[in-house]
Amino acid sequence: MPRRRHSAWTCLVLLCCASLLRAAVAAYCYSDAQKVSDLFSSKSPYAKLRGNMTKKDLVPESCHPVQLWHLVRHGSRYPSEKDIRTFMDILPELKARINGCVGCGKLCSSDKKLLHFWLSNLNESLAQTLAPEGAYQQEEISSKFLNLFPEILPDTFATEDYKFRYTATQRTKESAMAYARGAFGSHAKDIHMPEPVYPDPLLQFDNVCSKYLAEVELNETSMQEERLFRLGRQMKEVVGRVGERTGVFFTPVEVQIMYDACRYYTAWEPETPSAWCAVFTKSDLKVLEYWQDLKYYYKSGYGHRINYEQACRLVQDLVRTFRKRVEEGKGPRGVFYFTHLGAYLKLMARLGMFWDNTTLTHEDIKARRLWRTSIVGPFSANVAFLLSRCPDDRWYVGMAVNERRAKLPGCRGDMGCTWEEFLALLGQYENCDFDAICENDPPVVPEDEVSHSGSAGTPNTLLLVAVLQPLLRLLNRES
Ligand SMILES: *[C@@H]1O[C@H](CO)[C@@H](O)[C@H](O)[C@H]1NC(C)=O
Ligand SMILES: *[C@@H]1O[C@H](CO)[C@@H](O)[C@H](O)[C@H]1NC(C)=O
Ligand SMILES: *[C@@H]1O[C@H](CO)[C@@H](O)[C@H](O)[C@H]1NC(C)=O
Repeated sequence: MPRRRHSAWTCLVLLCCASLLRAAVAAYCYSDAQKVSDLFSSKSPYAKLRGNMTKKDLVPESCHPVQLWHLVRHGSRYPSEKDIRTFMDILPELKARINGCVGCGKLCSSDKKLLHFWLSNLNESLAQTLAPEGAYQQEEISSKFLNLFPEILPDTFATEDYKFRYTATQRTKESAMAYARGAFGSHAKDIHMPEPVYPDPLLQFDNVCSKYLAEVELNETSMQEERLFRLGRQMKEVVGRVGERTGVFFTPVEVQIMYDACRYYTAWEPETPSAWCAVFTKSDLKVLEYWQDLKYYYKSGYGHRINYEQACRLVQDLVRTFRKRVEEGKGPRGVFYFTHLGAYLKLMARLGMFWDNTTLTHEDIKARRLWRTSIVGPFSANVAFLLSRCPDDRWYVGMAVNERRAKLPGCRGDMGCTWEEFLALLGQYENCDFDAICENDPPVVPEDEVSHSGSAGTPNTLLLVAVLQPLLRLLNRES
């Protein structure tokens, strides 16, 4: 029966094709892939994302560096107490469900093995503390700066050559300590680390900006785009694909927990495959990354004006610090601030960095966007401004983001900015009335920090400063 034989052949061919296709789809194996993705937004591992800047990237030939202003996000940390409890309660159960599914799903055997052997090694006492990897990242960063710019970090120094400041948290304090160890080795203990202020209207201004809290943090509508994306088609497809890949049905919330586990474990041990990443494909991770980018765009980026308007005090501090050095030859060699992602991203937006010239929305993933939090804001994210003195009494400002040469939009050279360009772009923020911008009532900026405004100073403010100085010094010591 030729006809039947024919259809039998067709059938066989089709079956073959189907299983080949299935093999092709199943072929993606996280444990075997050399480098899947480290683009995990705010929880990306710094070691995989840091740049390889050289001295030439920040200092023009014939100039020499004199002052560094460096703002650093703390290194890889442990999750909040609530998230640790979620990990401890839920992940073992998700693991059991995946392992219980024998012969279903598409996970390769090495990925299954990874999940099989995964153990939670967390406890609540670790909540929000700096992970060992986080401390290591900070040492790596400062020793890189030490090696490139020994003028800034010489062997011998006086305590007042450096200004450290961190927020009232364990993770920024430990980050500052680790940074100091990387830069000063056994002399780190001679560095003066002032007690943190709380709340800190310079390093954590977003905690004390009334207008921001009302319009963004406490306003559900402000995160509408993030919400629409989270509930939208692409995120549903991710949840579906994780289900197909593991052979187990998961809710969106369970998928988010696995995503966090994937990211955190990578951030703690960047060289070790993180079992929970095995449930995702590369394209899943791209969708999830965009979701996070949208979140930070509206929380700390260009999504709302107040997000970056409130960040002017850090720019003011930067410009004043450099101006004092240029005009009066005074001030520390290094200013080192240790803070959190929120303040860091808001500063980036105030500086005009990573601006896409278009609004990010839930509608489509802009693949070639500049606002990419994995690149901009991993753990230990940092922005450095380096002031250099050049012949003929000229000055130059180099810039690096995550140890990669960067440039303020508006400067013409392909490296950094001349002093004049720098002032033309950022000088406007020397006047920064934070309490007015934030509609704070009562004001939160300490008197001493307000009275310095307008650095040239009218005779009246100068007089005021002179009279208040001893008192303020006392206050500062106590705060
Ligand atoms: C720095 O890294 C880039 C790619 O990330 C590479 O093209 C370049 O050659 C590296 N430069 C140095 C000096 O290693
Ligand atoms: C909440 O956010 C929306 C969208 O950004 C804005 O239109 C509205 O004015 C905000 N509400 C408050 C109370 O600020
Ligand atoms: C930004 O977009 C506007 C129009 O939307 C255009 O005129 C301008 O040239 C763009 N700028 C850059 C830097 O792409």
